[in-house]
Amino acid sequence: MFRIFAFDAGVLVGAGRGLGDGRDCAYLCDIAVLPTYQAQGVGKQIMARLLRLAAGHRKIILYAAPGKEGFYKRLGFRRMKTAMAVFPNPEAAVAGGYLEA
Ligand SMILES: CC(C)(COP(=O)(O)OP(=O)(O)OC[C@H]1O[C@@H](n2cnc3c(N)ncnc32)[C@H](O)[C@@H]1OP(=O)(O)O)[C@@H](O)C(=O)NCCC(=O)NCCS
Repeated sequence: MFRIFAFDAGVLVGAGRGLGDGRDCAYLCDIAVLPTYQAQGVGKQIMARLLRLAAGHRKIILYAAPGKEGFYKRLGFRRMKTAMAVFPNPEAAVAGGYLEA
């Protein structure tokens, strides 16, 4: 439903997207900034625009890559107590820090 691309002189340097039902729930995913462009505010701008596009949904959810929680906390996200997921390779997801063992 939503996609944001960040360009520098025609070069794609960041992206993010969101799936939503237009009313109740929106899910933001795959926020990524090219390493050489990180820590310059690009990710924050992508998120700000996605949040504007998703405004009106009763809940906006995402899950962070391990170690990136602070990035989303600064933007107002709070840890969910009951989040659960099915991954195609649960062992790899445990090893990667995404799932409880
Ligand atoms: C996570 C990511 C999108 C952040 O984008 P970025 O452009 O580097 O972040 P910004 O420069 O916009 O940072 C915005 C704020 O978040 C903070 N921040 C960034 N990464 C952080 C982290 N890992 N933990 C805590 N705070 C973080 C910055 O210090 C900054 O704070 P400020 O507003 O007080 O100055 C980027 O590091 C990235 O693409 N990482 C690899 C892919 C990835 O892991 N994506 C997340 C999937 S969940």
